[in-house]
Amino acid sequence: MSRSAHPAGPRHADVLPEGHYSAPPADLNTLDPKVWAQTVTRDDEGVVTVGGIDVKRIAEEFGTPTYVLDEADFRARARAWRTAFGPDADVFYAGKAFLSRAVVRWLNEEGLNLDVCSGGELATALSGGMPAERIAFHGNNKSADEIRRAVEAGVGRIVLDSFQEIVRVAHIAQSLGKRQKVQIRITVGVEAHTHEFIATAHEDQKFGIPLAGGQAAEAVQRALQLDGLDVIGIHSHIGSQIFDMSGFEVAAHRVVGLLRDIRDEHGVELPEIDLGGGLGIAYTSDDDPREPHEIAKALTEIVSRECEAARLRTPRISVEPGRAIVGPTAFTLYEVGTIKPLDGLRTYVSVDGGMSDNIRTALYDAEYTVALVSRASDAEPMLARVVGKHCESGDIVVKDAFLPADLAPGDLIAVPATGAYCRSMASNYNHVLRPPVVAVNDEGARVIVRRETEEDLLRLDVG
Ligand code: LLP
Repeated sequence: MSRSAHPAGPRHADVLPEGHYSAPPADLNTLDPKVWAQTVTRDDEGVVTVGGIDVKRIAEEFGTPTYVLDEADFRARARAWRTAFGPDADVFYAGKAFLSRAVVRWLNEEGLNLDVCSGGELATALSGGMPAERIAFHGNNKSADEIRRAVEAGVGRIVLDSFQEIVRVAHIAQSLGKRQKVQIRITVGVEAHTHEFIATAHEDQKFGIPLAGGQAAEAVQRALQLDGLDVIGIHSHIGSQIFDMSGFEVAAHRVVGLLRDIRDEHGVELPEIDLGGGLGIAYTSDDDPREPHEIAKALTEIVSRECEAARLRTPRISVEPGRAIVGPTAFTLYEVGTIKPLDGLRTYVSVDGGMSDNIRTALYDAEYTVALVSRASDAEPMLARVVGKHCESGDIVVKDAFLPADLAPGDLIAVPATGAYCRSMASNYNHVLRPPVVAVNDEGARVIVRRETEEDLLRLDVG
């Protein structure tokens, strides 16, 4: 199937024909609270503010492009997940969405745990002060060194992804005189309704151990026999940017089925299950994400029901939302450089960043919106494509969006919902420097990840 048939923004069923764009909004100055961070608003002069600070000031002080993150919104979303799942479940924020030491501190203060999937994320988590026992370590090919560091640090769990890893982690833990808590990641054979590159529970992909053919049961059996391991549960992550709960329902049913088989065969009731992350957010006004309390209610009900039917004690549930916490909390602030109207087609608006700060449009056909933020405008809507400064025609940030026709070089525009998988997937393509992350709260704006410099680039280039 062609990639363009699976836009990561909307659901499968909402796929629009190539070249489609929706009608312009009634008022281009309106900021839909669904896609913008909580404290974002337009002031009396028409300038957009976040946490009470206007974007022109942010651009002056920190330059552009810049990821601007609303700390109050991040904390509120983290807290909403924590509260929704309550004390009998654990929420692991997925650090791959965006991780920095400030974020680790906020998570810690809000009572969330942290999922990391590389030595670099582990180092950031520990350096930011996350207690090791609240860290879960993921990955389909962790190096021996990464495993050793995780075990030595005392991470709360390592999620085992293959038969080789079961033996590897057991061996390393034993050689360090430790017994490591582990979960086994299984693939339950669910087709998540999302872009194929971010679906992870169907069988033909690299993650986890298939439930099919008894492989997952075999993996659990082997792990239970190894002294270095303490098997605490089963893990399933079905994919990302999912709106439909039915995939989770099937996954929970199959995970609980495995727990039942394990109990029947080995007399062991594993105490935990992790249902992963993957809950969708609104990138455009057409998306309708679920609230954390609805998700928590649905997931806990499904698991309790399935366990009751299987006569199992209900295991402790954990979840790993990344995008749903950080995604909506940030926007990317750009300065318009050039404007190129192409008669009968659209107007190309070039900004000072591009696919190096947001690869999602090029990679997943993701959809975004954009707004003029340095002033309000009553001009007619103009169909625009926001593109970057890279030497590549696929360097598109927003494929189709309406901007006011009086847009001019020097105006600031912002793309909302860029908190997840934008800075964390940023590159140096064309030796463009990665933007900073500026966090805003009611005390002001401050850099939490600084802008890359040419010195940073040249430091890696040893000549
Ligand atoms: N847990 C596991 C084991 C994962 O692999 C992931 C995401 C998550 C949790 C968090 O998923 P979230 O709640 O953030 O959707 N780069 C892609 C997304 C890749 C996600 C990889 N794993 C994107 O930009 O859409």
